[in-house]
Amino acid sequence: MAEPRIASRQPFVQKVQPGTYWWCACGLSKEQPFCDGSHKGTGLGPVKVEVDTERTVAWCGCKHSGSGAFCDGTHARLG
Ligand code: FES
Ligand code: FES
Repeated sequence: MAEPRIASRQPFVQKVQPGTYWWCACGLSKEQPFCDGSHKGTGLGPVKVEVDTERTVAWCGCKHSGSGAFCDGTHARLG
């Protein structure tokens, strides 16, 4: 399986409105933290996230979180 690129070594913290979001899992998107289609050919693809109520989200930027689209602190342990 392809290894994602580290887009950022810290999360993208945003207040988000209810809706559907496509989090970039490959790290190649220029529209971080969301997919812009750049994953084509990598074997990786975006993760769909449904947000029900307005809230603050810490989107994983390192692409190595154990919690998918959401930062779980793994970025601090990357080499
Ligand atoms: Fe990264 Fe689509 S550009 S998953
Ligand atoms: Fe990826 Fe925090 S930015 S785990």
